[in-house]
Amino acid sequence: MARQIVSVVGGDELTSGTPYASVNPARPSQTVADVSLTDAAGFADACRAASAAQREWARVPAPVRGRVIASIGRLVEANTEALARLVTEEIGKPYAEALGEVREIVDTCDFFLGEGRRLYGQTIPSEMPDKSLFTFRVPVGVAAVVTAGNFPVAVPSWYLVPTLLCGNAVVWKPAEYAAASAHALYRLFAAAGLPGGVLNIVFADGEQTYAGLDRALGEGTVQKVGFTGSSAVGRLVGELCGRHLQAPCLELGGKNPMVVLPDADLDLAAEGALFSGFGTAGQRCTSLGTVIVHEDVHDAFLRRFADAVRGAKIGDPNGDVLYGPLLDQRFAERYEEYLGWIRPHHTVLPGPVGRIDGEGLYYHPVIVDGVRPDDRLFLEETFGPIVGVTTFSTLDEAIDLANRPGYGLSSSVYTSDPKAVFRFREGVSAGMVSVNNSTSGAEAHLPFGGNGKSGNGSRQSGMWVLDQFTRWQAMNWDYSGRLQKAQMDVAEIIPDLGFRL
Ligand code: UN1
Repeated sequence: MARQIVSVVGGDELTSGTPYASVNPARPSQTVADVSLTDAAGFADACRAASAAQREWARVPAPVRGRVIASIGRLVEANTEALARLVTEEIGKPYAEALGEVREIVDTCDFFLGEGRRLYGQTIPSEMPDKSLFTFRVPVGVAAVVTAGNFPVAVPSWYLVPTLLCGNAVVWKPAEYAAASAHALYRLFAAAGLPGGVLNIVFADGEQTYAGLDRALGEGTVQKVGFTGSSAVGRLVGELCGRHLQAPCLELGGKNPMVVLPDADLDLAAEGALFSGFGTAGQRCTSLGTVIVHEDVHDAFLRRFADAVRGAKIGDPNGDVLYGPLLDQRFAERYEEYLGWIRPHHTVLPGPVGRIDGEGLYYHPVIVDGVRPDDRLFLEETFGPIVGVTTFSTLDEAIDLANRPGYGLSSSVYTSDPKAVFRFREGVSAGMVSVNNSTSGAEAHLPFGGNGKSGNGSRQSGMWVLDQFTRWQAMNWDYSGRLQKAQMDVAEIIPDLGFRL
């Protein structure tokens, strides 16, 4: 029997709601979880519950909160196989990758458990005697976190772990089609001893979430929104937050370029293109969008790339495959639309295009050679197993092409020339640059995030995410016993500025 999954708010289960079935994309007739979706009012209630619990949580000393993060890491590690199996079953991610995804949560906990003993502020000299200045990191309050299902547990952990460590309470709304994986992660967090209401999980559809968020922002029960998803929805979330004078943390789509220079190791570049274009069925925000290859090595590269793709195994995600099914029916439908963007001037490799016969949401990998800078295929994100190829003649032209779609998440350059590497890094608009490596697969302690259509400049991961979930508070303490006025009661040392040697 499928699992029954409901929202948990303030430690209590919300049993009523609209039914939704999260299915196995490799066997859509198999329901992984029967989910009960709540509505805007349920979402707003959860934000109120979080708001009520936050103050007490913030009073728990940060090193103790760090110990809770340590326990979460241990619990996740001890449940690695079970969690990874569930991810594979629910969203079709190959098991080896699902194990890596769980590892990423443990890495994130390992990083932040120590932050509980740091969360540094500063002591700063004052311009007046007998006065000291300090800065403190203060939790924002309640974070509403809305996440996608392609990384149903790792990417949420990038928000949840640092946010909780910093003393915030959280309302987490995961993707419905990844509800069972999210719920399992929630249970592991709860088992670490988080007090009720500090972490709440809410299942709701996009519309109700938006309405609930609007309400909660109006009621003042949410101080920060974290959103991972499409650029189109990110825009709506950004507008909504802007109306409430808030800057959300947005992690959006990408059209990630890979530039292959004539001096590149072409075997390595083809291997990188295979993994970043077709690993995870091309469903990472960091997946490869377009290979921008130098005209002199285009044919040699394309031969290698097409051979590698032809040889890739696609199938049961429990087996040793490059990729399994697409995440969910709605992603399959959208992917079929992208296939409709292929035009007569394109050359399609290595073979058939579209759905692979059978029940699962399996699709053939598609390379589209000859994409042009004005093609939709060149300009827009195409979440799924499709990669464009185009050519260039100078590095400046390659950089312009890399930036042209207006996203700016990840990018990659293959070359053996250090000068070209730095010129590319300087010119590319992406928040992340890989050198002789795939566009995907960022490590969990470097700043992760993008510019342009990929986000609003916010960064996750490592110490950089702390600026998203804390605010700086400045304190000055005058112990002179007098009122000393800044800028006015300041001692002056008179220089002789006319002095010359
Ligand atoms: C995403 O697809 O939202 O860098 C994140 C990577 C992964 C994260 C992808 N570690 O490819």
